[in-house]
Amino acid sequence: MKLIYQQMLAFLGVILVTLAVISILFIRSTTNTVWENNFTQLEQYTEVLKNNSLVQVGDNQFMINSNFIATSENVLQDQHVHFIIYNSKNTAVYPTNSSRTPRGIDDDDWAQLKKGNAVSVRELARNPADGSQQSMTIYYKPVFLSGKLLFVISAFAPVETIQTAIGKTEHNLLIGFLLSMLAAIIVSYIVARYQVRRINQLRQATHQVMNGDYDAPIATKFKGHDEITDLAIDFQNMVNSLKASEAEIERQEGRRRQFMADAAHEMRTPLTTINGILEGLAYDVIPEESKAKSIELMRNETNRLIRLVNENLDYEKIRTNQIILKKTQFNGQVDLANIVEQLKQKADAANDDVVLNAPAELTVYADHDRFVQVVFNIVQNAIQFTDHGTITITAKNGVHQTEISVSDTGIGMTADQVKNIWERYYKADPSRKNTAYGESGLGLAIVHQLISLHGGSIEVDSKLHEGTTFSFTFPDEATAPKQKAVNNGEATEA
Ligand SMILES: Nc1ncnc2c1ncn2[C@@H]1O[C@H](COP(=O)(O)OP(=O)(O)OP(=O)(O)O)[C@@H](O)[C@H]1O
Ligand SMILES: [Mg+2]
Repeated sequence: MKLIYQQMLAFLGVILVTLAVISILFIRSTTNTVWENNFTQLEQYTEVLKNNSLVQVGDNQFMINSNFIATSENVLQDQHVHFIIYNSKNTAVYPTNSSRTPRGIDDDDWAQLKKGNAVSVRELARNPADGSQQSMTIYYKPVFLSGKLLFVISAFAPVETIQTAIGKTEHNLLIGFLLSMLAAIIVSYIVARYQVRRINQLRQATHQVMNGDYDAPIATKFKGHDEITDLAIDFQNMVNSLKASEAEIERQEGRRRQFMADAAHEMRTPLTTINGILEGLAYDVIPEESKAKSIELMRNETNRLIRLVNENLDYEKIRTNQIILKKTQFNGQVDLANIVEQLKQKADAANDDVVLNAPAELTVYADHDRFVQVVFNIVQNAIQFTDHGTITITAKNGVHQTEISVSDTGIGMTADQVKNIWERYYKADPSRKNTAYGESGLGLAIVHQLISLHGGSIEVDSKLHEGTTFSFTFPDEATAPKQKAVNNGEATEA
């Protein structure tokens, strides 16, 4: 069943039950009131009759003023009220017309009356108006004089008159009921349509998103503070994150494509060189004195290829958490001094000064070889991108970590370039390829992965033409993460 009908049905159900309960209660209470009013009226009439229709003619002698009663009956003609007056012997003394004269009062009622209690009954009785047998309401009032029952004044009204009054009320109520139902149908339709329209708006938005349109405004269409608006807001948030992850997937896909192109390019360059030399050798166009140099070049290029393949493998292994860090605690100062020593030749070639500021005891908790690899890469970069400058290596024992920074006064980078340096094959300046250092753009990508794996952090601060500072940390044994490396499906603790 359509939602709009379900909603309407629910509304109408509630309204119908409410109306029915109210109507029943109303009819019951009106009926009661009408009956009560009827007996009160009859009582009042008998009271009037008691005061006006009994005329004292002597000691304990009373006459009935028939004229007064007849006039009263005339006045009350519309209500069909009639009176009968009984004497103390339960014989009717009014009306005198024998055909209308009813039988005496029932024994039970008579006993009550003799006790001085008024009696009201609803029963099948003879209507004094025409003598016909009818359902009547009757009110009996006893009249006493000096403790003796003198007369019983009774007032009769046919039940039919009362029921007509009740019937009129019921009729009006029915009309009211039908009108209310009509109003309820209209209102519930409007309310249900409003709700359904909002749900349809959500559906429409879902379809738009399904068709890849993430920019359609959703939440702004919904006013108010109800669950549907909340749902719309949640939906909007979901779409936003979907859009973000879509963009991320696209970015990753772009990176992947770039990676393939870069990798192919990096491999092709040395292969082309090697191929050129091999052809030269095959056709014997390389002069004898250059052959040794050519072979040396080929060896360099081959090494470069091997390094490229190894580094790529290394990167992948680190990235997929497949390497096991053999973490130990050692004095890093010794390694820093070694690295400076190893790179001295390169620094001299670039006319760079390398300054090391480290305490004699620099506590490092890391995989020793990987630590050296990280620092070596960063210092090598600093020398590589600095001419006639200074490279300052500062190290200290921090709180629960070892803090090292490598500052240079070299070419620096723009903010945009800094953003990408952790990506594989990224080179801020693509024109500088194939230098003596065998740049491939893998160094920092590996450095970043290694430092993350150790639970440390690395930051770059760089200004174009002014210099660059790499600051990184290695956590101490107490705070370093316990590595769960997965190696060929086996979980290993580092
Ligand atoms: N100290 C620095 N000063 C200026 N630019 C830097 C510095 N360090 C890194 N870069 C920039 O970041 C890029 C990426 O560095 P990364 O070490 O990853 O690659 P690479 O040095 O080009 O090649 P590889 O280290 O793999 O031989 C470099 O090409 C360079 O453009
Ligand atoms: Mg490098």
